[in-house]
Amino acid sequence: MDHYAVIGNPIAHSLSPRIHRMFALQTRQALTYKAILAPKDGFKTVVYDFRKRGGRGLNVTLPFKLEACQLVDERSKRAERAGAVNTIIIQQDGSLHGENTDGVGLIRDLTRNHGIDLNAQRVLILGAGGAVRGVLEPLLSSQPKHIVIANRTVERAVELVRLFDKLDGLQACGFDGLKNRHFDLIINGTSAAVSGELPPLPKGILSSGGICYDMFYARQPTAFVTWGRQHGASMAVNGIGMLIEQAAESFLLWRGVRPDTRAVIDQFSGYK
Ligand code: ATR
Repeated sequence: MDHYAVIGNPIAHSLSPRIHRMFALQTRQALTYKAILAPKDGFKTVVYDFRKRGGRGLNVTLPFKLEACQLVDERSKRAERAGAVNTIIIQQDGSLHGENTDGVGLIRDLTRNHGIDLNAQRVLILGAGGAVRGVLEPLLSSQPKHIVIANRTVERAVELVRLFDKLDGLQACGFDGLKNRHFDLIINGTSAAVSGELPPLPKGILSSGGICYDMFYARQPTAFVTWGRQHGASMAVNGIGMLIEQAAESFLLWRGVRPDTRAVIDQFSGYK
């Protein structure tokens, strides 16, 4: 039996064990998947210990994604670009290969699950932290008309644009730079909405028939999803599908089989 786990802090409420066990059942893969709480300063020790006990792969969540990117022996291009690793493959020789499946997860959820065509869309991303950096490259590869990154601390948005400077169509601003602008798709990547807060968004920023997508999720509609519904969004959805899609991509990397995510997403219909 092969062993897998997700490491984070906190980790008690992680949905990953449930999701991966559903994948394993569905694809008839013999594996275990558990949640491991690592002390804030103990990530490396926990990873090495898991490897010593024969573990085959790990998911990494907050606050360890950046540290994981440093720790692995080698990393994929997309993990390099994201500056973060959310999936570790423990190879036969024990070396650690780092991957990032968050971006693919977001794109698959947007396009396949919600039928959103990103091509030629005017996209606004709220936030410039790790969550946003992790998904920028695949978003840009989907050929939107342009992407504006708006952040409370404008320097962080500017820094992100600089980091991705070879990719065209990326602009940075503060929230006050959003007046008189209109977007077809607004993606929330700030952690503000987790505590029920929202970045200040000017009236009319969402174009008629526009879409709101929150990278976070909860059992209740998030503050951003609620904002979207109140401001005429044709669709306002949270990131539960992204979570399940990034998990499926990790599962594929580990097991060589892609699970059917639709069946699993249906099981999480309580996350609105
Ligand atoms: P993560 O890795 O989850 O993205 P992070 O790197 O701490 O976490 O980034 C959190 C993001 O949410 C940042 O863009 C942050 O804005 P700042 O860079 O200005 O700190 C944003 N954020 C957090 N609380 C916010 C709030 N109350 N209003 C607006 N933006 C907020």
